[in-house]
Amino acid sequence: MDVFEAVDSRIACRAFLDKPVDLKIVKEIIVRAQRAASGGNLQSWNVYALTGKPLAEFKAVAAKRIANEDPRHIKPEYPIYPEPMFGAYKERREEHGVQLYGSLGIGRDDAAGRLGQYKKNFEFFGAPVALFVTIDRRLGPGQWADLGGYIHAMAFLARGYGLDTCPQEAWARLYDTVGEFLKLPANEMLFCGFAIGYGDRKHKANDFRSPRAELHEFCKFYGFD
Ligand SMILES: Cc1cc2nc3c(=O)[nH]c(=O)nc-3n(C[C@H](O)[C@H](O)[C@H](O)COP(=O)(O)O)c2cc1C
Repeated sequence: MDVFEAVDSRIACRAFLDKPVDLKIVKEIIVRAQRAASGGNLQSWNVYALTGKPLAEFKAVAAKRIANEDPRHIKPEYPIYPEPMFGAYKERREEHGVQLYGSLGIGRDDAAGRLGQYKKNFEFFGAPVALFVTIDRRLGPGQWADLGGYIHAMAFLARGYGLDTCPQEAWARLYDTVGEFLKLPANEMLFCGFAIGYGDRKHKANDFRSPRAELHEFCKFYGFD
């Protein structure tokens, strides 16, 4: 697979096959993604990788935590989105919801269905490997941006191995549960979860192509004519 195909075929995968992943490959992805650029080469990412028994145990803890609570109402440690959302960003987020829930046949008024789908985040959508990405809380926006680069390096590398991924900021809502389980040091803050596995590309949760803005909406060219 070349780099163009890796970028083009990456999706936020929300349904995985019950198929084991060679853990050597997972380690390779984590290591090779370190080639991601970071300001001043700070390499601000920390990664916690879970599979097998520890993952099953953690998922059980998380399931218990949200059994009687709507996780969408749990305040995350950092603001995932601005409140209120506005303009094109608000529209895109809404469109994303319409597309995902529409594909799954979950109607606007189906509150239980929507909650159920959101809760699948906390099962890593069935992925056999789960990562958590954390950052030292003393670091700032520049280093947070570097996390995005690292995460995408992993996502594209995973495609090279035929794997799918899903970055999951939803986990920021369960930061205390994650922190307790992983025994995170006080200076470390959870940014997101990251699911890795073989995607069920035929599943309705994966059976749509997320749209992108038109070029003129986000880029101005100077001196290109
Ligand atoms: C940092 C980050 C966090 C995300 N968190 C979640 C999440 O918690 N749950 C989820 O289902 N998708 C999550 N996504 C996936 C986005 O919704 C998805 O990337 C976007 O809708 C574009 O779709 P695509 O990735 O399939 O192209 C996240 C993406 C990023 C980059």
